[in-house]
Amino acid sequence: MKKFAVIGNPIKHSLSPQIHSEFAHQHSIDLSYEKILAEDDKAFESEILHLINKGFTGVNVTLPFKGRAAEISSTRTSQVHLTGSANTLSFDNDAIEAHTTDGIGLVNDLSEKIGTISNSSILLLGAGGAANGVIPSVFSEKISHLFLWNRTIEKSFDMVDSWQKSYKNISVMDVIDLNKIDIVINATSAGIDDHASSPINLNDSHGDLICYDMVYGKQTPFLKNARDNNLTFFDGLGMLVKQAAASFEIWHEKKVESKSVEDYLRSALT
Ligand code: ATR
Repeated sequence: MKKFAVIGNPIKHSLSPQIHSEFAHQHSIDLSYEKILAEDDKAFESEILHLINKGFTGVNVTLPFKGRAAEISSTRTSQVHLTGSANTLSFDNDAIEAHTTDGIGLVNDLSEKIGTISNSSILLLGAGGAANGVIPSVFSEKISHLFLWNRTIEKSFDMVDSWQKSYKNISVMDVIDLNKIDIVINATSAGIDDHASSPINLNDSHGDLICYDMVYGKQTPFLKNARDNNLTFFDGLGMLVKQAAASFEIWHEKKVESKSVEDYLRSALT
């Protein structure tokens, strides 16, 4: 039986074991998948070595270790190089192969929900690892333009500086103008704190604006603001399931059906 795990801090509420067991069921694969808490970077690294020694096939990595996961790996995909972030590790003897599936999870989920994001003008909120990690996948869809905005706006200018080497149609939107935007994606951590307000005000948007929050399992102030304005909105549960589907495909070389898994988790969460 192949062995897998997800490592992070916190880890208690991770849905990854459930998702991977649903996918395994689809292909009658027998696997184990556990949750592992690592206190800090040092504990994370020794846990990885320990799992390799125990014959694990791979792990998912979640916050706050995605950057460290990319650094300690022997090989990295081009997306891991570009983003400096890895959420899927495959072990091959002592070698660690790093992948990142967060961006493809976002893009596949958005594409399933709204058709396509090609030719869209997108506003990405936030300047942390969550925002940075999805940028190459968003550009792989031939979008029309990517605008960046962050509460500390200097960080958005820094991000544009670093990404402009790879992509030309990226710029900072320091004064929000939602008339220029088709899709707004919230990659800030504002939704995690119940008392925070929406990072940007959606009250002046046009009615066709699509709002997406990477957070799942709760109605964030951003999504509440979208709902109050009768906008189309989605939480990040589909992204979570689809990044797991991409990890599953890397490890098992098998495609999975993810919609039913998302529906099942959504009903269990509400
Ligand atoms: P992650 O790796 O999940 O992206 P992070 O690196 O801590 O987490 O980044 C958190 C992001 O959420 C930042 O862009 C942060 O904005 P600042 O750079 O201005 O701190 C953003 N953020 C957190 N709380 C916020 C709030 N209440 N309103 C708007 N943005 C917020």
